[in-house]
Amino acid sequence: MFNHLEMASPDKILSLMGLFRDDPRPEKIDLGIGVYRDLSGHTPILACVREAEQRLLAQQDTKTYVSPVGDERFTQALTSLVFGDHEKLERMSGLQTPGGAGALRLLAGLLAQARPGGRIWVPDPTWTHHHAVFADAGLDVRVYPYLNGVTHAVDVEAMLDTLLRVQPGDVVLLHGCCHNPSGADPTPEQWRAIVDVIVQRGLFPFVDLAYQGFGEGLEQDAAATRLIARQVPEMVIAYSCSKNFGIYRERTGGAFVLGETASKAAAAKSQLAVLARLAYSMPPDHGASVVRIILEDEPLSIAWRVELATMRDKIQKARLTLADAFRKRTGGDRYGFLARHKGMFSLLGTTADDAVRLREDHAVYVVGDGRINLAGLQLGSVDRFVGAVLSQTRQ
Ligand SMILES: Cc1ncc(COP(=O)(O)O)c(C=O)c1O
Repeated sequence: MFNHLEMASPDKILSLMGLFRDDPRPEKIDLGIGVYRDLSGHTPILACVREAEQRLLAQQDTKTYVSPVGDERFTQALTSLVFGDHEKLERMSGLQTPGGAGALRLLAGLLAQARPGGRIWVPDPTWTHHHAVFADAGLDVRVYPYLNGVTHAVDVEAMLDTLLRVQPGDVVLLHGCCHNPSGADPTPEQWRAIVDVIVQRGLFPFVDLAYQGFGEGLEQDAAATRLIARQVPEMVIAYSCSKNFGIYRERTGGAFVLGETASKAAAAKSQLAVLARLAYSMPPDHGASVVRIILEDEPLSIAWRVELATMRDKIQKARLTLADAFRKRTGGDRYGFLARHKGMFSLLGTTADDAVRLREDHAVYVVGDGRINLAGLQLGSVDRFVGAVLSQTRQ
């Protein structure tokens, strides 16, 4: 049976994690894996999550099955978090999924079912996983330009130029907020222009929203998704609670469908439930229960918002400190984009060879495409990191 199977090529980021773990050098710096770290370099369990877990432990009186759509109260609470009190909510349906990645997979399957072999346009750059999951579902994955490599900002002209030529009905993948690996997000004005083109061309938006609250705030970070939802007849959204609740391993997320009518949205949800049943039957309950308890309880919800703001502020401080340190060392503003970007990631502009030398010579771990996770940077390591990058890139 397995004779012809070859070893799968290792996941680059997970391999980097292993190399970092086995590196004995005490000064090592890990900016690879995309998880938040606090001032001591630890990925903490939020106090609000601990409190919700304790309540869950005290209150839960059964472990019976829930259902392929998961906990409807969780989905309801998440819907309000993402869309606010949007007037189109009756045309919106949703279900609980195992993380944002689970939502991506189900929605990709739904789109492939609705339009076999249909095209989906993803930005360049995006996560390798987007290419993999959409191709695996049978979609035809195409790429649209996104980043201006010189300014490190969104090249909105190039992006719109391509989208204006995309066929009506094609799907366009958009990062809801601070989720592009480049670190660059469209400005509110650019979002309006993007949505205008989507409406004008009759494109189908697919929003991947995994960092609500990590950019500017919960409301601001949902603004682009809400703007799209107000303007288009149909869209889908993959949502992750992994980062903003710090519950990465609990596999908690949601898949949402905006339909032309409430009954079309309900039909799409029923198909997603079938796909869920086929893939994993039902989503894990723990993380969703924790999120539900937090979102349904006002004091706990406020406590979560405060902890989320602490994570956001720490990342923003790392950005400002790093940009400043580069400015002081170089006398120029070549790395000023680090302060302008939002969320955990930025592309430094280093090469794959630079990444190897940074790791081997300086114990600095960055992803091969030059992506760094600012949340992994400890303020005490900034000078060493800047020195390592500059010594590498000046060669
Ligand atoms: C492209 C992309 N979007 C969203 C997510 C959401 O993360 P999670 O599945 O941990 O909720 C992931 C995680 O792998 C991802 O690769």
